[in-house]
This record gives sequence, C-alpha cells and structure tokens, in this order.
Amino acid sequence: MDEIVSLSKRRGFVYPSSEIYGGLANTWDYGPIGTLMKNNIKNEWIKFFVNLREDMLLIDSAILLNPMVWKASGHLENFTDPMTDCLSCKKRFRADHLLEEILKIKVEGLSTKDMTKLLKDNKIKCPNCGGELTEVRYYNLMFQTKIGPIENEDNSQNLFLRPETAQGIFINFDNIIKSNRVKIPFGVAQIGKSFRNEITAGNFIFRILEPEIMELEYFVREGKDMEFFEDWLSYIKKWYQYIGIKDENLKYVEIDENERAHYSKRTVDVYFNFPFGFKELSGLANRGDYDLKRHSEFSGKELSILDENTKDRYIPFVIEPSFGLDRLFLALLCDSYSKDEVAGEERIFLKLSHKVSPYQVAIFPLMKKDKIDDIAYKIYKELKLDFRCVYDDGGSIGKRYRRQDEIGTCKCITVDSLSLNDDTVTIRDRDTMKQTRHKIKDLKKILNKCFM
Ligand code: GAP
Repeated sequence: MDEIVSLSKRRGFVYPSSEIYGGLANTWDYGPIGTLMKNNIKNEWIKFFVNLREDMLLIDSAILLNPMVWKASGHLENFTDPMTDCLSCKKRFRADHLLEEILKIKVEGLSTKDMTKLLKDNKIKCPNCGGELTEVRYYNLMFQTKIGPIENEDNSQNLFLRPETAQGIFINFDNIIKSNRVKIPFGVAQIGKSFRNEITAGNFIFRILEPEIMELEYFVREGKDMEFFEDWLSYIKKWYQYIGIKDENLKYVEIDENERAHYSKRTVDVYFNFPFGFKELSGLANRGDYDLKRHSEFSGKELSILDENTKDRYIPFVIEPSFGLDRLFLALLCDSYSKDEVAGEERIFLKLSHKVSPYQVAIFPLMKKDKIDDIAYKIYKELKLDFRCVYDDGGSIGKRYRRQDEIGTCKCITVDSLSLNDDTVTIRDRDTMKQTRHKIKDLKKILNKCFM
C-alpha cells in the first residue's frame, strides 16, 4: 500500500489534502493525472450503465436537501455507527472495528450492550493512550450544516450533507416519470459526492469523508425484483471485465439478513483484494418499495406509477447497484500495479485498460533538433483529436518511458532522425516494451485498432 500511496503522490494521482497545514484525516485531493483517470472512470461508467442501454436516465440532484428527506429515508434514525470514547485522551473509536481487529471476531448483529461487555471482559483499552473506554453508543454519520448567514436557534435551518446520492433520485421520481417517456422497468443513475463522518483510519482513499458514489435505482414491478436482481448481478460482473479488473481479485459476497442495511431485502457486495485484504468495493441491493413508500408517507405525494395494461397504480420495487468511485480508483491502481526489470533496474508500470488510463498515447521527439521536434509536435496535435495524448520532450528517452509507464500510458511514439527520411516512427508498447516501426500516415488506424 505504501508503494501505491508514494506513486500516487509522485506522479500526481492523489495528494494528502490540506498538506501544507498538516493535513486533515481521511481527506485526499486528486492531482492532474488522478483527475484525468477519475473522469475516465466516470465517463466509462455512464457509457456502460446509461448510454449502452435503452432503459436508463441520468440526473444530477442537489447535495443539500430538505431535512425531511433524511427523516423519511431512515438515515436520521439508522445511519449510525457504534462508537466508544476514551475517557483520558477523548479520542473516539468505532467499537465494532476495535473488537474485530483485536479479538478477530465478527461483531455484526451485536447490541451496544454486548459490545460494551466484550470491551470490558477483554480489558480493551484506548489504542491511542491506554485510557479507559466508555460504553458503546450509536452516533449518526451525517454531517450537519446550517442555511443562511446568521446562526440562529431555529432547528428548521439545520441541514445535512447527503450521505448517499440515491435519495435525490427517489424524491424526483414523480418529476422524472412526468417529464420523460418511461415504462417500467427503467432506471435512473447519478454520480456525485456524498458525505460521511467516518472516524476510522481510512487506508488511503478506501474510507474517506466525501466519497463520490456512482449508483442507479432500477424500478421494477414487485414479483419481478428477484429476477432483475440476478440480471444486475451478471451486468455488474460484465462491468468489472469491461473496466479491466482481474477476476481473481474479486469476490461476490451474499450479505446475511442481520448485516444488511435497514431497507434491503437482499444484498450482494463485491469485494476486491486490496493490499489490506478483501474489502467491499461495491454493492447490489434490493431496496424493495421502502424508499418510495416512505417518501409518499412523509411528503403526502403519491409516488406510484400506472400499469398501462391493468390501469392500476403501484409503487415499484428498486434494485440498486452502487459503486464507490474512489474505491474503484484505488482498486484499479492496485490491480494494475506491476513491476519487472529493465537493464538490471526495477521498472514500475500500471497495466491499466486504455479505457481508464490517464493518457493513451505519449509522443516524444528523440532530440529537440533537426525538425524532429516539429514532426513530433505535429503528430501530437493530430492524434490529440482522437486519443488522449501527452507530449513529452524532457529528459532522456529512458526517463520518459519510465514516467509514462508509471502513469499507465499505453503506447509511446518516438520520432527520431530516421523519421526525417522515411516518415516512420516507433510505437512502444507499455506492457511488453516491444518497439515496432510504422508509417506516420498509418498511426491513427493502428491506434484505433489498439483502443477498440
Ligand atoms: N445508496 C447505497 C449506498 O450508499 P453504501 O454501501 O453505503 O451504499 C456505496 O455505499 C459504495 O460507496 C460502497 O460500496 C463503497 O464502495 C462506497 N463508499 C461508502 N462509504 C465510503 C467511504 N466512507 N469512503 C469511500 N467509499 C465509500
């Protein structure tokens, strides 16, 4: 993991946030290279889950919503973690994580009373200072804020930063079916930041305060929900192949009833083999009619749809595939991180799919003279129209290859003195390092074939 964190900083994927002020726990900033890759993942996700299908719409709802949304959704009551505080240093810890780490047991389904007893019986003390720990209590994970310039005592001004993007879809259900021609089954997708007051050490970007979530709510008739759940499970498996994650690094885990979210009828989580073990990468849940029913009750607005055949109205069931963008980003870095040896020296390269690699092609002039750089720059300007390209004329050619290898650039094109005579260049492959010579006029055709 340390190697991934170090590469991320060195090459501009991810930096510790607020670093010049000593940082802020569990927050990270995406650098220029990381931002390119993150956007590529998002674009591919939209392509795969929305554009390649005929039954999907995409929305972009607000982060701040009427507080009633969180009452109706159950987040005010249920979006909580069991915590214990240190009486000496005042640090707060996830009680379940402490017990799991120290006693190596599963604590899902245990009451706060049971967890407190386990802490006491096993004489577990504060991991920071060795102080006494309090009894375990549940704390809500939602961040609060206030609306308006003046702090006042009116509680109606208290707002929450959304902890998931899903609710923005449910509360727009009526707007969406009235403003679009949709028929059940159909889905609505959304990508956006969510905010969670996580206190546990994050393992780099695995657990952060503002994860970006890519999720969709797929509306189906009750009775068909289990069938569509299976369809989505297969579609998710195809997604991981499409985006280029090795199958052996993935595990599909059926979640027991007592471990599922309060709204879920069935959940299958996808686990990835991170350097710190197999951990949740994404989830698939059958939310039933829980959300639309609750919003109907709390808002007084009937959130149902008309069955064209029977003319009855009903509240659809919802199947929800949900992906953490930051976790997928980290999984892709870990999955693609590779090493080999070149002339007795270690080479690090990211074997990323061309779909997500920050750049697909790098163009180098071997020397900055004799018009070699003019030709290289012209090639760069032309290829840029069709591929994600970068121009690099700094340092030795070996250094330039290493730089591109470390950010996963798929192909490097080098223009040299031979190019002046025969209009050819070399194309070097990132993974095999094989170099082949080609006519400049054929480059587009060749690259198109590589990135099909
Ligand atoms: N709407 C359903 C939902 O939000 P979730 O399992 O709480 O479900 C979905 O979150 C995904 O978001 C997770 O599978 C995980 O990939 C990611 N995620 C959740 N909390 C996260 C955090 N604190 N940091 C990074 N990613 C997180």
